[in-house]
Amino acid sequence: MVKICCIGAGYVGGPTMAVIALKCPSIEVVVVDISVTRITAWNSDKLTIYEPGLEDVVKKCRGVNLFFSTDTEKHISEADIVFVSVNTPTKTRGLGAGKAPDLTYWESAARMIADVAKSDKIMVEKSTVPVKTAEAIEMILTHNSKGINFQILSNPEFLSEGTAIQDLFYPDRVLIGGRETPGGQKAIETLKEVYSHWVPEDRIITTNLWSAELSKLVANAFLAQRISSVNAISALCEATGADVTEVAHVVGKNTRIGPKFLNASVGFGGSCFQKDILNLVYICECNGLPEVAHYWKQVVKINDYQKTRFVNRVVASMFNTVSGKKIAILGFAFKKDTGDTRETPAIDVCKGLLGDKAKISIYDPQVTEDQIQRDLTMNKFDWDHPIHLQPMSPSAVKQVTVTWDAYEATKGAHGICILTEWDEFKQLDYKKIYDNMQKPAFLFDGRNVVDPEKLREIGFIVYSIGKPLNAWLKHIPVVA
Ligand code: NAD
Ligand code: UDX
Repeated sequence: MVKICCIGAGYVGGPTMAVIALKCPSIEVVVVDISVTRITAWNSDKLTIYEPGLEDVVKKCRGVNLFFSTDTEKHISEADIVFVSVNTPTKTRGLGAGKAPDLTYWESAARMIADVAKSDKIMVEKSTVPVKTAEAIEMILTHNSKGINFQILSNPEFLSEGTAIQDLFYPDRVLIGGRETPGGQKAIETLKEVYSHWVPEDRIITTNLWSAELSKLVANAFLAQRISSVNAISALCEATGADVTEVAHVVGKNTRIGPKFLNASVGFGGSCFQKDILNLVYICECNGLPEVAHYWKQVVKINDYQKTRFVNRVVASMFNTVSGKKIAILGFAFKKDTGDTRETPAIDVCKGLLGDKAKISIYDPQVTEDQIQRDLTMNKFDWDHPIHLQPMSPSAVKQVTVTWDAYEATKGAHGICILTEWDEFKQLDYKKIYDNMQKPAFLFDGRNVVDPEKLREIGFIVYSIGKPLNAWLKHIPVVA
């Protein structure tokens, strides 16, 4: 029986290994993590993460050929294939701070493998890492290897949160990069064999190591670039009376462009896009390519601009102050169908409103109060560095309440901001909400989920990203 061990039981390691276990009954899969809380949750009825379809998969395999454990050393030493799926956040201090990825977790995982391995192993890079990381890892492994043969493969993960199980069941492609040596090619074949249990052969792409490592960063940069492009155009639409949804529809009908990933929004969030683009920017700088670095940095800058622009629109529309006013926030997760709040635009929007002394009341169907308070306390880039957490200033905490009901959150509010595109926000009884709000009642739709005309008929003053403004909003100057 082939044994797989995965280091890192997070959003990628957990679902990916669960699907490998389901599709490959002849393989034993153990997911290990340094976090006892995470492993305990994976072994309980309340899994660490919310992901549609995940619970079913885990229930079918857990205890059969899928295990979650904190006994890292034992399982690494017994495995034939070791996946490394640890977090690779942006560095907050030192060389490359604010851009380069922090590879501390990576290095410690590699050193652990070098220390405990007693037999030949294939080490698989699952985390998103800078191009050339495999070279550094090879150095760590071979310097301590006691004659053990290690092959390193790059097998980046392309799943999106909220659709992880579907993405893993039916991937657009699986990418495996390896050394162009007989040993490297043999390792590629071994991993290909695992995926062949359910992925059609023509969807498994094999490349050299550096192409695989770089392709992942580039794929995310291209996706994020589309959102920043459409978001930049949303500002021009508001200035001219064009409708960004119509413009995106027309542009996306061009088959060379395609319709996906063209939804204007309050900005992209999530643990990957900003981090990976900054990583790319840093690599370009290190390779003496400042123009290329500048080009990609712009994608992140437009994203920051879009969030600031939204906050300024809210404050300017509400008579240039939100001080003491109740603003309801509908949605805090970085996208629908996940409870993940890493780099969610809601953090910046809430901090911006708090900066103007608003009282905010937040409702999200999957995010806990604890998580929200922690997120609003953190400094930039601290979200994946738990040790740097600082307490929130007591005055700011008092300004934030979290509810488990959209009607409660909006009761008595002066304005509403929709920040996540949860389906349930389309079905709310907006007449009832309007009746319970202060007047004039404002609604700022950062995800274009509501029909602005219908809400205007009820009496709301509505702002939708990139859509024609009503008479009041048109005459309010907004400085971004
Ligand atoms: P995560 O923070 O959810 O999970 C990482 C886990 O690794 C944590 O539970 C942490 O405790 C554990 N860990 C850290 N160091 C360890 C060590 N030395 N030994 C054992 N466990 C250790 O992160 P994630 O979202 O799963 O992302 C993991 C990687 O995959 C990142 O590089 C990310 O960029 C990439 N990625 C993420 C996504 C996504 O949608 N989240 C998609 C594709 C790729
Ligand atoms: C992303 C990549 O899509 C995935 O391939 C990679 O492996 C991990 O990073 P994820 O962060 O889970 O996945 O979510 P994604 O669906 O890409 O959305 C990212 C952000 O962009 C979200 O905040 C989302 O709301 C926003 N978005 C997406 C838009 O604003 N408009 C769109 O049209 C699409």
